[in-house]
Amino acid sequence: MASMDTLSELLQDELKDIYDAEKQLTKALPKLAKKATAEDLKEAFEEHLRQTEEHVERLEQAFEHLGIPAKGKKCKGMQNLIAEGEDMIGDAEEDAVRDAVMIAAAQKVEHYEIAAYGTARTWANMLGQDDVASLLEQTLEEEKETDLKLTELAEGFVNQAAAEEGGEEEEARPSRTVRRSSSRSARPAAADRKRR
Ligand SMILES: [Fe+2]
Ligand SMILES: [Fe+2]
Repeated sequence: MASMDTLSELLQDELKDIYDAEKQLTKALPKLAKKATAEDLKEAFEEHLRQTEEHVERLEQAFEHLGIPAKGKKCKGMQNLIAEGEDMIGDAEEDAVRDAVMIAAAQKVEHYEIAAYGTARTWANMLGQDDVASLLEQTLEEEKETDLKLTELAEGFVNQAAAEEGGEEEEARPSRTVRRSSSRSARPAAADRKRR
């Protein structure tokens, strides 16, 4: 079992890692918002950018509680997730497919953050750093909500549209054309949702 001193160092290292990860995301999210075709997805990325800026501020408050300077340490995990996402997005030629790929990449990022914040929150609790634990918990909940929202978006329209676009290449099906967000709201009709 790690000593409390070691645990305290682990927490500080983890916070530096997450701090850098969040800062990388404040640069990556505007690019995703710009590239998203479906209006709902674009809005989801924009909203999460605002939340991410708050996540950075909460971490700065956490550093203050611990009495250490707010300083990041290169988060290779996030760097690679973003790089892989960019590669996948670059390969997607169709709008709907690109949206689906962006959701997939964003969810991998959210799961990384959920794991990181969950761990850091637990360590803060074990160290009796209640204020720090509570700050981390708030962000953790927002990351989980974002993940759920992305799942909803993926199930609701993007993957469906991608599947339909793929089908069009095999045979022409004029009755089932892909509906673009530019011509209608991207939110699925209630009937579409109930089908699942
Ligand atoms: Fe975050
Ligand atoms: Fe996030």
